[in-house]
Amino acid sequence: MTIVAVTDGTKLDARTLRHDFPIFAQEIHGKPLAFLDSAASSQKPRQMLEAMNHFYETSYANVHRGVYELAERATAALEHARERVRAFLNAPDAREIIFVRNATEAINLVAYAWGLSNLGPGDLVVVTELEHHSNFVPWQFIAGKTGARLALIPLDEQGELDLSELDAIARNGQIKVVATNLVSNSLGTINPVDRLAAWAHEQGAIFLCDAAQAAPHMRVDVQALGADFLALSGHKMCGPSGVGALWGRADLLLAMDPFLTGGHMISSVRLEKTTWGELPHKFEAGTAPMAEAVGLGAAIDYLEAAGMEAIEAHEHELAAYALERLAEVPEITLYGPPARRRAGIVSFNLEGIHPHDVAQILDMQGVAIRAGHHCCQPLMGKLGVAATNRASFYLYTIPEEIDQLVEGLHAVRKVFA
Ligand SMILES: Cc1ncc(COP(=O)(O)O)c(C=O)c1O
Repeated sequence: MTIVAVTDGTKLDARTLRHDFPIFAQEIHGKPLAFLDSAASSQKPRQMLEAMNHFYETSYANVHRGVYELAERATAALEHARERVRAFLNAPDAREIIFVRNATEAINLVAYAWGLSNLGPGDLVVVTELEHHSNFVPWQFIAGKTGARLALIPLDEQGELDLSELDAIARNGQIKVVATNLVSNSLGTINPVDRLAAWAHEQGAIFLCDAAQAAPHMRVDVQALGADFLALSGHKMCGPSGVGALWGRADLLLAMDPFLTGGHMISSVRLEKTTWGELPHKFEAGTAPMAEAVGLGAAIDYLEAAGMEAIEAHEHELAAYALERLAEVPEITLYGPPARRRAGIVSFNLEGIHPHDVAQILDMQGVAIRAGHHCCQPLMGKLGVAATNRASFYLYTIPEEIDQLVEGLHAVRKVFA
């Protein structure tokens, strides 16, 4: 796989890099495509698509089963992808990387497989008001099943977690789980996850980091964060849909029951009893997302070649530029913290205009943004709105796309004048 060298030190050349993404070769409604919805799912570089194609064309067979050449190649490709994810997260051991469908499944795996055996009446599961439903609903559901309660770390006026509430939360019960995102998908807030992980451990709790929105955009080191579990989705980080990863501490994973059962995850099956396979297989029931994992490995190669530090710096610049330019639009409300404490995500509302109307009119200008509750209804309740508009950026985003958004918003204002 050839990777175009696109970086100059820590500076990322988004204009050159954009040529790697075939999607940008088209116009939408006769306008250049301004794709500002990468937080929902990212676009795909040719290098990643070619890696998947190459796997299908040269090495495709089911993994961990056959003894023939193709099966061995496919198994090696899957395990190479696992090693790429391990290195990307600085995880101690590749056995701790479990391939799943997406971050949602990774979090459900922990909520079910750890939560059902370890939670009970009097226990607390702590999440935040900023969580995506994927890191809220599974915990709410498992807490409901086990008699545990859900507690929320609230937000302050800036859209940042109010850590002064931690002591009060700890007085309400035995905290067993703290589960928070590292980057909020709605406000872009970068949360102090290392502090929360340390606090969780002081309480004798486990800490799960939802990195679905962080892993694509900044260096995430599970050991430096002090997390016990971490979830990510391939499709948000230049990889294909249908694959994500859960990293978990080996001692915790070894002590857990499986989440899904069936083929591949067993050691032996008898009428009386089934025993589980080794890590990571115990948590990978059924045929693995093989080509998708290969694609995720190639996406990681792509991101590493661009440089995670350069990607993060690029997005900070874009967020600062977007906040400055959007402030020019009359009667706009911008949500969330200052640019230096947020990733490349900006949520906003235009006074008196429903976000769906805004997004639809922008679409006619070639601008793709997200409008809705962003799977964060508790947060929307806190902001006192049903929905927001959200523009989000990635390594291929250029400032002209933000200009196109701002021009589009002026056009929206005219329609509703
Ligand atoms: C912060 C966060 N967590 C979890 C998810 C869920 O990701 P997926 O839908 O890929 O499972 C998302 C998706 O938007 C997200 O932004």
